[in-house]
Amino acid sequence: MYAQMVESTASDDDPEKLAAFQARIDAGEKIEPKDWMPEGYRKTLIRQIGQHAHSEIVGQLPEGNWITRAPTLERKAILLAKVQDEAGHGLYLYCAAETLGVSRDEMTEMLLEGRMKYSSIFNYPTVTWADIGAIGWLVDGAAIMNQVPLQRTSYGPYSRAMIRICKEESFHMRQGFDIMMKMANGSREQKRMAQDALNRFWYPSLMMFGPSDGDSVHSSQSMAWKIKISSNDELRQKFVDQTVPQADYLDLKIPDPELKWNQDKGGYDFSEPDWSEFHAVLKGNGPCNSDRMKARIRAWEDGRWVRDGLMAHAQKKAAGKVAAE
Ligand code: 3HC
Repeated sequence: MYAQMVESTASDDDPEKLAAFQARIDAGEKIEPKDWMPEGYRKTLIRQIGQHAHSEIVGQLPEGNWITRAPTLERKAILLAKVQDEAGHGLYLYCAAETLGVSRDEMTEMLLEGRMKYSSIFNYPTVTWADIGAIGWLVDGAAIMNQVPLQRTSYGPYSRAMIRICKEESFHMRQGFDIMMKMANGSREQKRMAQDALNRFWYPSLMMFGPSDGDSVHSSQSMAWKIKISSNDELRQKFVDQTVPQADYLDLKIPDPELKWNQDKGGYDFSEPDWSEFHAVLKGNGPCNSDRMKARIRAWEDGRWVRDGLMAHAQKKAAGKVAAE
């Protein structure tokens, strides 16, 4: 279906249509599924929304690791609700991408065959309970920084999905910060765990925003189309500026000796992440890439009988062979 759609619209990229399309974007209009759009716009959206959806789904794995080991019943209930929310986010996003002519099954197969990505951050392990705090505080914090502007993205279904997702992400961030507060104000050992989690998640969180603007392949076209509203470096800077005072409040230290306030720019100077590590993770060589992919492949294979059963039922129903419910 996706291939057919690509073929049927490829010939539409004529200069007049492109100019009219760009004028709509520049005027702040939303593009809706049945509107004409350049093939590059459609493909970029499928890549970004699909990658985002996969990230929400894979992102359940590191946190799911702690559901059975949460320290109290209340923490377990909160974590369960958060992980369920992430599944919901994945589903809204797959639905938004489906309006562009690609099915959820096709996107999943592309992920499993290595033709689509998910966020680098989920290739890091959660080794202590404090990591669950650090994920909520830093990872969801970085996700919100990226996703709040996406509520104004030019593609209608994506922007509407982001409105609900952002509301839920802000609860996620607060629950993470709440865990960090408990740990940072707890025993010496708890505070050490909180600091250790910050040390391990700081740079991977900065990497979530993608490569520096000079190395970002897609940013300039995506920003012209208002698929992306802010650049990778702009968002990374905002994230650092927001997070440093929060670390101070927790009395934890950001693991960056170069970090300092720059009065002239009105923001912090900070060290870049190790980009060679980022590229290694994207190539599949992070600490948990192979575990994450194995879990996704197993879930896909284990669920095959359900998908086949539902499809068979739908086909019978369409052929009038099943009594109306
Ligand atoms: N992880 C994996 N791949 C990444 C990445 C990251 N953190 N950052 C960039 N990349 C990839 C890009 O996908 C691209 O590769 P591709 O051409 O094969 O797709 C390449 O690196 C070059 O990067 P660009 O800057 O040119 O790519 P983009 O313009 O797409 O920008 C982005 C990257 C900022 C992540 C953008 O895609 C985006 O804003 N996506 C929507 C948000 C999203 O996906 N968030 C996932 C975060 S996790 C989450 O939301 C779950 C929550 O519960 C915490």
